Parts: sequence; C-alpha cells; structure tokens
Amino acid sequence: MNHNNKNGSSRILLIDDEEIMHDVFGSLLGREGYQLDSAFDGQQGLEMFASQLYDLILLDLMLPGKDGMEVLRQIRSLDPHAVVIMITAFGTIEAAVQATRDGAYDFTTKPFKNEEILVQIKNGLRKRQLEMENYYLKQNFQAQYSFDSIVGKSSRMQSMFRLIQQVAPTKSTVLIVGESGTGKELVAKAIHNCSNRAEAPFIAVNCGNIPTELLESELFGYKKGAFTGAVATKKGLFEVANLGTIFLDEIGNISIELQAKLLRVIQEREFRRLGDVESIRVDVRILAASNEDLQELVKTGRFREDLYYRLNVIKIEMPPLRKRKEDIPLLAEHFIRKICDENNRAICGIEKEAMEVLLDYPWPGNVRELENVIERVIVLSPKGGDISRDTFPPEMVSASEALLIADELPEEGISLRHAVLDFEKNLIIKALQRTGGNQKKAAELLKLNATTLNEKIKRLEVNVAEMSG
Ligand SMILES: Nc1ncnc2c1ncn2[C@@H]1O[C@H](COP(=O)(O)OP(=O)(O)OP(=O)(O)O)[C@@H](O)[C@H]1O
Ligand SMILES: [Mg+2]
Repeated sequence: MNHNNKNGSSRILLIDDEEIMHDVFGSLLGREGYQLDSAFDGQQGLEMFASQLYDLILLDLMLPGKDGMEVLRQIRSLDPHAVVIMITAFGTIEAAVQATRDGAYDFTTKPFKNEEILVQIKNGLRKRQLEMENYYLKQNFQAQYSFDSIVGKSSRMQSMFRLIQQVAPTKSTVLIVGESGTGKELVAKAIHNCSNRAEAPFIAVNCGNIPTELLESELFGYKKGAFTGAVATKKGLFEVANLGTIFLDEIGNISIELQAKLLRVIQEREFRRLGDVESIRVDVRILAASNEDLQELVKTGRFREDLYYRLNVIKIEMPPLRKRKEDIPLLAEHFIRKICDENNRAICGIEKEAMEVLLDYPWPGNVRELENVIERVIVLSPKGGDISRDTFPPEMVSASEALLIADELPEEGISLRHAVLDFEKNLIIKALQRTGGNQKKAAELLKLNATTLNEKIKRLEVNVAEMSG
C-alpha cells in the first residue's frame, strides 16, 4: 500500500502490524508532503528496506514474528546511517530506551501527539541528511587522495597516480623500485586493475624466496618426465598468466641463467616448458619490482645489462615514507579505519602527541611498518578510545625523539649528511606548519632570510602547499 505524494521528497517506511496506524500516519505525513510506504510485519519491512532507499523508518516495537528490536538490528546492519524512530505502547518505555542504545534515533509512545511526532520526524530527517552529506564528503575526500586503494596526498604520490593511469592501458614493461614496504606490490596491482587485462589473472611471483631450479619450473612449467619427479606435465606461471599480468617481485635475486631465459621471453614472447622442444606463445604483461639498486647489480655483474634495459622501459620510483611525511596522517587514518573495521571495533581517533610520534619516527620499514604499528596498538588496547602516545612501543617513541635531537649515534652508524638534511627539513616543516605556510614568517622563526629559506625549501623538496591551513 503506497500513500505517495508528488511533492514528497523524503521517503519514510512504516513497519507496524496495526492497520489503523497506517491510516493515521498516512494522512498525517501525506499532508506534510512526505512519501510513506507501508509494511505490516518485520520480514516485509526488511525486504522493502533492502530494495529501496528510505530516509527514515517508523518501527513498531511489538510486531508479530520478528520483533521490533531484531528488525532494528538488521536495519542498522544493512545501513548504519539508517534513522529509526521506535513506536512503543505505553508501559514499554524501558524497551524503547534499550532500542535507542541499540541505535534507534528516537522513540514515541502510543497514543502520540501529532505535533510531537512531526518534530521528531523532522529532526530525524535532518540528522539523516547531515550524516549523508558527511559520508559523501568523506568519500570524495578519500577518492581525491587515493587511487585503487593506494593512499597519498603528497605531490610525489599524486604524480605517481597520474603515471599509473598513463602506463596502465599500455603493454609496456614497468620496473617498480623502492625500499621495502613502500607499496610496490600495491602499485603493480593498481596497474593491472586499471588496464584492459583486469579481468585476466594477476600473478605475483616472489623471485627472492624460491630456489633457482624451482623458480624456473614455476615460471615455465615442465613436460612429463623432464626430470625425476616430473610425473605429469605442469603449466608454468607464464601460461597461467596468459592475457593477464605477471609481477616478478624482487627480480634482483634471480640467477644469471634464469635472467637469460627471462630475456628471451620478453623479447620473443614465447618460451619452452622444461624438457619440451615446442615453444608456447603467450600474451603476458610483465611488471617487475626490486628493492635493490639494479644498476648497481649491473655494475657488479650480477644482473644482465640487456635485461635491465628491457625491464626498465618505464620506471616507477616509490618514495620512502620519511620523504613524504605529509602522507602519514592520511595513511594512519586509512589503517585505523581498515583495522577497526576488520576487528569490529568502533573507529577511534589519534591524539595529537601520538600523531607527532608518527610524524617524527623515521619509518625504516615504511608503510608496512606503519600499518603494523597501528594494528598492534588497536588490537592490544582493550577498551578502544583514541590512540595515545604511550600506546606505542617505547623504542619507537625514543627513536622519534632521537631523530629530532640527533644526538644519538645508531648502532649501524648514520649518514651525517642525511641526518643533518633531515634535521633541517624537520625544523623547516615545523616552522611552516606553525605559520600556516607563510614563508616570510617561517624565515623569521628560523632566523634565516627569506631567499635562503626558499632555496632550502626547493632543495629539500618541502611541500609548502601541504603546510597551509
Ligand atoms: N600508499 C599506500 N596506501 C595504502 N596502503 C599502503 C600504501 N603503501 C603500502 N601500503 C600497504 O603497506 C603494505 C606493504 O606494501 P607492499 O607489499 O606493496 O610493499 P612492497 O614495496 O612490495 O614491500 P616489499 O619490498 O617488502 O615487498 C601493504 O599492506 C600495503 O597494502
Ligand atoms: Mg613486495
């Protein structure tokens, strides 16, 4: 039964087993220009809720079959932003209070006053609107600073997103280099996902932890009887990845012999299974990654120069996290949300002093380390609540301080030149943050003249735009 009104903008669902309630609300809400849909039991209500967007739900607490509390829980699990007003009979106030604890927005007792329920509905609709606006703003914000689940607002990450978009549709081989934990695999997946191969397989092979002979048979497969133990013919990963993408991770680790075979696949687009004489043609896009400097390996003769040039058609360099500290708050928020969701925790915030520790810490393990630290803090803190400074491991807090004061010499030594540059950059960032990006005022704080500061900003790649506001 629909009581549609052409002028109605807000859509309301009434779930109540009493016919008379539908008549009462029908005329009351109809007059106000709302659209009202009717359901007469919990099951019907849930089905309607699932198939239509409602701005507000009026839900009777006492329903035959599924009771109102159960329906409330299911509605909220379908849409955590759903605004539900419970309708209760006189004498069940306690249950109604419990319902508001379980996520109901408000309740009213029968018989109700028209003006009162209309105010409640109006407020509920307003809350719904604000929440939805907020939600969409957040989504937009996230879309702006993320790309296929890679998060980053720093200019280096932003230009990387553009590069990924440019290279993804092509068939070019891409070499992704960067320290451990900087997101190389994530980028490889994004390239695949944004290409027209997205529906075909993405096969990641870690060349670092598989022994050479095994890696060879993994990549190229073998013919039955090729060696003892080859009891049946096996497809190689290049065949499995046909029409898709193969990602050769830690490529710097493969042996010289295997490098020669790989070069052949890249050049000829065909290969042979071990022990086979026939060649197999494949259409596979090759992506490779390394956290070692391949050029250095070429110089020392551990990596074939011709293979290096074949792989290095397009190079994507992943900046270490300490070089793009602007991304830390965004990444922290991203991981907090992700980990809280995975652990069914309410999303928590992070205290200012705690964020300062994250900003000062040098992150040798890059984004992976940040993700691990946040996961540990959330999982180990029993109550939830905002993340505070003392929930971090003490080594981390002191490491962040050591870097700031730079008076400690780490066990493994330190590049003085880099430490000094980091120290300079840190202070410049702090001065710019305090002055909202005003370089003249920042220069005064640092007792520099403005030209010198500006030169340093350029040389140290400080992103002033990130500091304002
Ligand atoms: N910019 C980012 N946004 C969101 N998550 C990220 C980002 N960069 C890295 N991560 C996350 O950090 C972890 C490490 O990333 P990834 O495995 O891609 O790094 P890697 O460079 O391949 O590291 P390694 O060299 O150690 O293999 C992953 O869980 C990944 O999802
Ligand atoms: Mg990796």
